[in-house]
Amino acid sequence: MAPATLFPGVAVVTGAGGVGIGAHVAVALAAEGCSRIAITDLRGDLLEQTVQKIKATKPGVEVFSESGDITNADFVSSFMKKVVERFGRIDYGVNCAGILGKDERSDEMDLASFDAVNNVNYRGCWLSSRAELQAMLKQEPLPGASPSRPAQRGAIVNIASQLGIVGRPQAPAYCASKSAVIGMTRADAIDYSKDDIRINCVCPGVIKTAMTTGTEEVTERLAPAVRIAPMQRMGLPEEVADAVLFLCSPKASFVQGHAMVVDGGYTIN
Ligand SMILES: NC(=O)c1ccc[n+]([C@@H]2O[C@H](COP(=O)([O-])OP(=O)(O)OC[C@H]3O[C@@H](n4cnc5c(N)ncnc54)[C@H](O)[C@@H]3O)[C@@H](O)[C@H]2O)c1
Repeated sequence: MAPATLFPGVAVVTGAGGVGIGAHVAVALAAEGCSRIAITDLRGDLLEQTVQKIKATKPGVEVFSESGDITNADFVSSFMKKVVERFGRIDYGVNCAGILGKDERSDEMDLASFDAVNNVNYRGCWLSSRAELQAMLKQEPLPGASPSRPAQRGAIVNIASQLGIVGRPQAPAYCASKSAVIGMTRADAIDYSKDDIRINCVCPGVIKTAMTTGTEEVTERLAPAVRIAPMQRMGLPEEVADAVLFLCSPKASFVQGHAMVVDGGYTIN
């Protein structure tokens, strides 16, 4: 008999505070029947909002939340260890924490700005996926969703960006950090295929979140990027969450190392 949900395992979502992509992924996982969800974010206040949204969506869901800095290797290891102590395993790792940084050409950018963007977007993503992989490697695979689907030991979805695929003016560090996430996703996908772990990434276009609408300045800054995309609108975090859930689920059982664009056509234009 097929399981009642596509997500019988344990989920971890980073950058899950507030109204962004991570928060929507966590809520969507709950809505689709994932009953054990761990979330983290730099901002404890935003994280609490997500806890409340998950509980309002599905009252029975067990949520573990802890705020912390994803660039801090000790925090990431300790958080993931606590998740395993609490829930016994990690099946879906969704690494969403990220920052945009200022609009600057390389000659104008100081080392602190360059490091900040790379430390969160690339190093933080690597630290998270490394800890998730370490946990996944120690666990038995979950049975396949149907007799025709193989068992899955774990699935990781890293959030890259359309700017990991194409360039944009005045965003060298951000673009490079997201290209790095795509490269890391591919390399990890090769390494962990033999362990029945799938690693993919999603490359969102301009999505309506605090990152893109937090100030008038940033909304104006991104307006040309919205106009470039054939669909001529900002995407919704729910639309990105749908792609993430597909890649986590056994419906994507043969999808490996993929960079899935969810960008209203930006990168084809
Ligand atoms: N919104 C977009 O248009 C867009 C487009 C492409 C890619 N992305 C990527 O999607 C991801 C989510 O972005 P979003 O749009 O939901 O933005 P967001 O700002 O709403 O969410 C990002 C979250 O990451 C958290 N975060 C930042 N630095 C952190 C750190 N050091 N440690 C832990 N948490 C930290 C923030 O507190 C925030 O809650 C990011 O990786 C972003 O680069 C977003």
